[in-house]
This record gives sequence, C-alpha cells and structure tokens, in this order.
Amino acid sequence: LERSRNLSHLMSGCLSSPIVELLQTIGTIADQFLFNAFVVGGFVRDLLLRKANIDLDIVVEGDGIAFARKLGQHLGGRVREHERFGTATIILPQDLKIDIATARLEYYEYPAALPTVELSSIKLDLYRRDFTINAMAIQLNPEHFGRLVDFFNSQNDLKQMAIKVLHNLSFVDDPTRIFRAVRFEKRMDFTIARHTERLIRNAVKMNLFGKADDPRFFTELKLLLNEENASPALERLAELGLFPFLWPDLKPHLSIDRRFRHCLVQTQRSIAWFKLLYLTDRYEPWIIYLLTIMSRSSMTVLANFCDRFQLPQRNRTMLLSEKQLADNASHHLSARSELKNSDIFVAFRELHIEGLLYLMAVARKTEVKKAVSAYVTTLRHQAPLLNGDDLKQLGYRPGPPFKKMLEALLLARLDGLTSTRDDEIAFLNDYFPLSDGH
Ligand code: CTP
Repeated sequence: LERSRNLSHLMSGCLSSPIVELLQTIGTIADQFLFNAFVVGGFVRDLLLRKANIDLDIVVEGDGIAFARKLGQHLGGRVREHERFGTATIILPQDLKIDIATARLEYYEYPAALPTVELSSIKLDLYRRDFTINAMAIQLNPEHFGRLVDFFNSQNDLKQMAIKVLHNLSFVDDPTRIFRAVRFEKRMDFTIARHTERLIRNAVKMNLFGKADDPRFFTELKLLLNEENASPALERLAELGLFPFLWPDLKPHLSIDRRFRHCLVQTQRSIAWFKLLYLTDRYEPWIIYLLTIMSRSSMTVLANFCDRFQLPQRNRTMLLSEKQLADNASHHLSARSELKNSDIFVAFRELHIEGLLYLMAVARKTEVKKAVSAYVTTLRHQAPLLNGDDLKQLGYRPGPPFKKMLEALLLARLDGLTSTRDDEIAFLNDYFPLSDGH
C-alpha cells in the first residue's frame, strides 16, 4: 500500500461505540474465515470529512454470501442474499443496514476465462467505483483494524474538494454517475474536476444514455432532488446539457429561464417553511420538485416522463394525482372572488403535503398561496367538537348520514358559524332536525 494511515482514533472519536463495536465484530468474523474485510465508499469519505453516515458498505476478499450468513446469525439480523452478484444485505433492528459485497478480480475488460473468486482484490473493487473520493477502504481485521486503504490518492482529492473519476470509461460504464457527480458536487460544495467534466460533456454529446429505461436513472434523479437544496444541482444539470435527456418534452425548459428559476427558489422556500413548522413530518421533496418542473406542462407530459424513467406505479400514481388535484384546486380557488375557509378545505382535502407545497411554490395568486398556508397550519387539523358517540347520545340513529353530519359540522366550524358544543347542537337542530327521520 502506497499510503497507510490508521484511522482507529478518528473512528472512536467520530463514531458511536455500537458502530465501532460492530465494525470490530465484522473484522473478527472475517478473521475466522481467513478473509480480509473492509468498510468502503461513502462511509469512509464521510468519516474523513467528520460527517455521520450509518450506511455500512462492507467488501470482503472471499465468499461474501457465506460471510454475510455467519455475520447475520451472529448479530441476529435478517439476511437478504443476491446470489448472482455475490452480495448480501443484513437488516438489523433500528433501520441499520449492512451491505456486503465480494471483491472479485473478474472484469469485463479481461479475458473471460480468468478465475474469479479465488483471485479477489480490494484494489480492483475500488477501481471500479464512481469517484476517487468514494474509492477508499478501511480494513477491519483485528490486526490491521483502522488501516486506511487509499490506492488512488483519494485523500488528496478530498482535501482539494475535487470530484474525479478513476478512469476515462467511468461514465461509459455507468452514465448514472453523471447525476452522482452533480449531487456530490452540490451537496459537499466540491468541484467536478476539469477532466471529469470534459468526460461528462463528451458522454452527453455522444448521447450515451439514449434511453432512460435503466431504473437507476430515476433512483439517482430522486436522490439528487431529495438533497438539502436541489436547485443548484438542477442548474448544473441544465448547464451540462442534460435537460433534453431528462425532459425532452419541455421545450421552454431546455435552458433554465427566469420563471423556471423563480419556481425552483419558491419550491425550496415552501419546503423550508414546512420543515421549520413540522420538523418530524415525512414527505418526499423530489415529488415537489418534479411537480414544479412540470407545472406548465400537461398531464400527458408528466405521464410520458413516468414512462420514460420507468417509475414504480406507486410513484406514478402519486405524481399524476397530486398534479391533477393541485392544478384543479388552484383553478377553482383562483376563480372565486372571496374565499371561505370551507372552500379552501374542500379544495385541498385530498392533497398530500407534496401537492400542497408544490401549489404554494407555483401559484401566481397571493390568495392561493395564503390559502395553502392557512390549510397546512390550521384548517387541516380542525375537527368538530361533537363525534359519532355524541350524535348517538343526541338521539340520532347511527348510519351513513353521520358522515354527512360530521362534515357539515366541520365546515360550519371552519367558517366560524359554531364554536361551542351548544352551537354545534343548535346547528344540528337547524339542519338535521331529529323529526326528519335522522
Ligand atoms: N457506486 C458506484 N457507482 C454507482 C453507485 C455507487 O461506484 N453508480 C459506489 C460508490 O463507491 C459509493 C458506493 O457504491 O460510495 C455506495 O453507493 P451509495 O450508497 O449510493 O453512495 P454513497 O457514496 O454512500 O452516497 P450517499 O452519501 O448519498 O449515501
């Protein structure tokens, strides 16, 4: 090894002790198999940057599946095996996941007759990865625990904040890496190195991707749009000439125009606004960004996008229905001269947070933006004071009309027509008199 630095101190300083112990266990079990074991990739990169990363990618020089079985058993985790790739995933309680891969010398540029598993090599495994900063490993076997394996001067690139491929065919091998380059560049405020950028531009010029039917394109796009601030990454994709590949139907967006940029900023803002208010609520930022990008397009264009990138049915349904519902609601509310809370509630009730934040970002009318804000912060949480049991107590016969009555109570409440229980009872007496057979 050209450079050999030991990171065990850094590891005990930066990682929680259960993680350090887990890494030690992996090394001990590897010794029993007489394998070398390493933690690789993003975990090592982030450790050197002193940033938390709990995704463990392990590479062993030996039979990764047999190793994973043993480790899974030892840790009491579930093991999912991918025989064809010699990989396995161990799922532990608390969302902890360990990916295990087998380092193999087999490589398509070499004669096919080469023996495979016997001639394992961590070096070749690392060489096949996307960028130098992701191509470091830390050995885990007890005798060498913490030894940094850096064949490609990755530490230097990390210092220089440079994103560099390991070889010229990297984007030919895997064009989805272009999205990764941009994602890392913007996330970490690094720079795609000059030669690497030239390779990207060449790949784009050669129309390397052609079809987008490799599902990893969508996976990477989603990851990019889920980053803290996706706008600069989108701008970079545009600048690298990737928009015609991403959304060939969106002629006005082939370059980022002023309105498009404005919408992206608004999207970023509406997400930040929501996050501040509802820290723990779950939502998917990529959906909001995609809706924004497609805001001036028809449903057909969005559906074409979903086909082109082979989106899972669940995602496709969500995107299409949020667009339809949000665009309808916006249209409906814009046409009204005066907005009652109940109008807003009815217009938005079917929307998820993603569709609401999209609407907040792209609506041209201030009233619509304000309506979303009111709905998200207060209206959607409201409920009548009376419930089904109360209706029974009041003498109403349980049945389907209860739904209608509770709904009427809610809308009355939203519009300020009722505030106390007595108001609600009086409201029922007026609109659903008991003598009517209710
Ligand atoms: N990798 C690659 N080419 C790809 C995807 C992944 O070479 N197209 C390699 C990289 O070495 C990467 C590792 O596989 O570090 C794990 O991939 P992933 O978990 O996607 O990347 P991370 O670097 O861990 O990124 P993140 O911080 O976003 O999790």
